[in-house]
Amino acid sequence: MKCRKCGEKASIHMRQHKLALCKDHFLEWIPEQTERFIKKYRMFTRGEKILVAVSGGKDSLSLWDILVRLGYQADGLYLGLGIDGGIEYSHESQRLTEKFARENNFKLHVVDIEREYGHSIPMLAEISHRGYGKPCAVCGLAKRHEMNRIARDLGYDVLATGHNLDDEAAVLFGNALHWSSEYLLRQGPVLPESDGLARKVKPLCRFYEREMTAYALARGIEYIYDECPFAEGSQQIYYKEALNQLETARPGTKLTFYIKFLEAKQSGELFVEKETDRKNLHTCPGCGQATSAPGLCSFCRMLEKAKAEAK
Ligand code: AMP
Ligand code: FES
Ligand code: ZN
Ligand code: ZN
Repeated sequence: MKCRKCGEKASIHMRQHKLALCKDHFLEWIPEQTERFIKKYRMFTRGEKILVAVSGGKDSLSLWDILVRLGYQADGLYLGLGIDGGIEYSHESQRLTEKFARENNFKLHVVDIEREYGHSIPMLAEISHRGYGKPCAVCGLAKRHEMNRIARDLGYDVLATGHNLDDEAAVLFGNALHWSSEYLLRQGPVLPESDGLARKVKPLCRFYEREMTAYALARGIEYIYDECPFAEGSQQIYYKEALNQLETARPGTKLTFYIKFLEAKQSGELFVEKETDRKNLHTCPGCGQATSAPGLCSFCRMLEKAKAEAK
């Protein structure tokens, strides 16, 4: 197989795009495509300040690398979750994130949940009895809350995460299986800013996971290979496996599934937001973030419960 651009030996063949490229041309192709998606979905401009949420995994570290290579103003945010699971997951992911930032001279903000709130994520999950013994629900809630808070407090215009196509297709699959219209309505490459919440974007949402792994390796980015130890056996993983089977039988299935969904939504054929759908938002008296019901938001309620139980 030869590189389509230069005819040298190809190092990656992307069957879904009918495209083979050598390492150098692949390393150019990824940022070019990212730039195309940023423009197509109107994610942000070079005048805006971007906060990249970095977990130490291949996607978010690569995203940070790509945005800076493209000339965007992108700083990083690492959230210390206090997850061990026998592999020192949080410790190792923080070490690799800090190393990456230091070696590239990038600005990284590190916020530790335990230092901030007195309890790590697994502790909060245990005290609040949410999630049936798994901290993932509490973790998701805390990550969303903290990313929003920090983006706002530090004056960033946009918050970027490293979700790739495999992530987005799996979420879409789950939402479609349950016809969760509220989630389907909100799923997409951009979630516009609202009531003090920063805009959220996913610039890698059209890249296959395999392409991101290839990018990280080709750029020599050292990342944490292990998934969070609590992810094992999750619904998301089953959905990913099911989609991978479909993809093997028909290359391009995942991409078509996701893109046709976005197109249908944009054309107004599916999941159109009505004025009445837009719930009246309230302000949480604890943290000042927007919430759907009056009173404390779910994150602040969880903290209250943790405080009460700790007494
Ligand atoms: P995940 O939910 O683990 O698949 O991660 C999705 C995205 O959330 C990643 O690509 C990151 O952008 C962000 N993220 C996950 N964990 C962290 C963390 N500990 N600190 C900062 N950002 C994170
Ligand atoms: Fe949050 Fe696994 S529980 S990353
Ligand atoms: Zn080439
Ligand atoms: Zn709150």
